Amino acid sequence: MLRVLEGEAVSPPPVWLMRQAGRYLPEYRALRAKAGSFLDLCYTPSFATEVTLQPIRRFGFDASILFSDILVVPHALGLHLEYREGEGPVLQTVRTAQEVAALKTDRIEQQLAPVYETVANLAQQLPRETTLIGFAGAPWTVAAYMVEGRGGTDHENLIGWAWKDPQGFAALIGVLVDATARHLIAQIKAGAEVVQIFDSWSGAAPAALFQRWCVEPVAEIVRRVHAAAPGTPVIGFPRAGGSHIQNFAALTNVSAVGIDQFTSLEWARRQVPVTTALQGNLDPLLLEAGGPSLDIEIERILTAMAGAPHIFNLGHGIRQHTPIEHVTQLVERIRKGRGRGT
Ligand code: CP3
Repeated sequence: MLRVLEGEAVSPPPVWLMRQAGRYLPEYRALRAKAGSFLDLCYTPSFATEVTLQPIRRFGFDASILFSDILVVPHALGLHLEYREGEGPVLQTVRTAQEVAALKTDRIEQQLAPVYETVANLAQQLPRETTLIGFAGAPWTVAAYMVEGRGGTDHENLIGWAWKDPQGFAALIGVLVDATARHLIAQIKAGAEVVQIFDSWSGAAPAALFQRWCVEPVAEIVRRVHAAAPGTPVIGFPRAGGSHIQNFAALTNVSAVGIDQFTSLEWARRQVPVTTALQGNLDPLLLEAGGPSLDIEIERILTAMAGAPHIFNLGHGIRQHTPIEHVTQLVERIRKGRGRGT
């Protein structure tokens, strides 16, 4: 994984899955029930460590992503946060300059100390060959939850604010750039070897706003991460970023770009420098469906990325009803012919 992030083509490629710890695993559901709430799971280092390790034990992925959530950052900024069954996260909204000014910007490291303790546990417990990934949400996506209060809306409040009052909106994004950079740097100091920035809602940004609110904030975070932790690779994931991938790769200085299932890998490969890795593209619905189509698609992705730095992954998080055998089938198929750990 680290070699690929340095721009090397490695065959077969390393593999991990977004949301690899989660509800498709019975051992996750059992621990989730024991923890009580999702946030208790995130903030109790022994639980979060165990949940992170579950998919590594089962599948031997090449990378392990910290178990946490992108919304712990706005939570640490002082906003009320709840995860409702069947509804997802519900966050206290921020829609005015006064509400931005009231955010508690100076306590990220203190509030999120349990997360860094989890990272430190993982750095100790993971097999050496398993790369430890820390993460955060991109400012635009986290702002989407802060302004809308929940996911899955048409983002009219978010986009409306960005158009109407760019200066006020810049204050919100500025708070998030700072908090996110600090959160990522603290994870690296605790032992994360790579960090990923999830911009799940970048596809909702109008083209005219993409540069200002999806590229520049991530570029600034990468600058700060590299200033504090030189050489730490950053993976950017501008989901549904479509035609903006070239600019994103050129201007953010990320080592890898995550590609959703809606974007052609062959096309994406031509948009980024040859040493920038691509990660992703397998449709999570196909992993859930399984069967011969899954094998064919795995081969297609491997062929499309042959000779280029590539990290095998999904185009978005693994779905809750994905059969475990399909994940086993995926990992075996990618690794056929490779001795584990080489
Ligand atoms: O990838 C991993 O295994 C690490 C853990 C991780 C979670 N969330 C755990 C989680 C990561 C990297 C995330 C990122 C995240 N969280 C994103 C970006 C990636 C993406 O999916 O677009 C976003 C947008 C969130 C916010 C969030 N958290 C949503 C929208 C939801 C509800 C949707 C759902 O699947 O229920 C969550 C909850 C959440 N985060 C769960 C998990 C395992 C499910 C909680 C449960 O057990 O009920």
